[in-house]
Amino acid sequence: MVANVIDGKKFAQNMRNKIAADVKELKAKHHVTPELAVVLVGENPASEVYVKSKERYCSEVGINSCTHRVDEESAGETLFALLEVLNADLDVHGILVQLPLPSYLDEALVIRAISPQKDVDGFHISNVGLLGTGQKSLVPCTPLGCLLLLQDQYDDLSGLNVVVVGRSNIVGKPMAQLLLQENCTVTIAHSRSRDIQEITRQADIVVAAVGRPQFIKGDWIKEGATIIDVGINRIACSDGTTRLVGDVDFESVKNIAGAVTPVPGGVGPMTIACLLSNVLTTCCRMKGIEEPTGFFE
Ligand code: GUN
Repeated sequence: MVANVIDGKKFAQNMRNKIAADVKELKAKHHVTPELAVVLVGENPASEVYVKSKERYCSEVGINSCTHRVDEESAGETLFALLEVLNADLDVHGILVQLPLPSYLDEALVIRAISPQKDVDGFHISNVGLLGTGQKSLVPCTPLGCLLLLQDQYDDLSGLNVVVVGRSNIVGKPMAQLLLQENCTVTIAHSRSRDIQEITRQADIVVAAVGRPQFIKGDWIKEGATIIDVGINRIACSDGTTRLVGDVDFESVKNIAGAVTPVPGGVGPMTIACLLSNVLTTCCRMKGIEEPTGFFE
């Protein structure tokens, strides 16, 4: 079997087109422009790249974005004051603090200082609790992107065996919650799981989010399974260059899986499209405007 390679890039482009049209309508009908505030603490080169990309995609769909840079040395004092100002600003609809933060800052405490209504990452404990109890919340962008790709593959996810490999707060845990809501039978496997290959071999769907390059091999999966690869790892090649690979060994998996997301061009573009969608959602909720539909029914 040769797997269908799931085109996340194309799916995300379609999403962004729809979001751009919704933003245009929001501006015309309600004279509101959604705005995202991004907070960047210190000078992390990878974070700089992510933030630039978020700014570019916001601009492409007509969302205003404003990046606030906070000095690493003074972050303890200024970060919480800045978040208070952004929380109170009625023109700011979404707030995102780029992670990771410098180690001396308590990430959980910082996330808790973001207004849950503006928490476009869906990381605030209020949103985590709402999601876990099946209530309307803001959903973390990467798991939401994975779910949309899966819903596009299957008419109904109900009853399918899904193994989520990885138990992070950002991906693994919310992914499991979303799939439970879709009536999947969900297993979370992680670094302490025994016989992980035996667990993944039972799965109709594997979501790989472990942060280990090419960890999941072709002989770990069931023939015809769908494999969603959340990993983004840079590895060295024999010719001295580097390249991006996922948490899945694409070459061995593609001959056994029914469908697989590539890296790059799979889940990555979906994460940013879902962030834009969350900004539109928070804007509509703040203004009491009906939320656009199209992706989540
Ligand atoms: N750093 C890496 N991924 C993310 C993300 O999804 N949200 C935030 N805020 N920071 C990140």
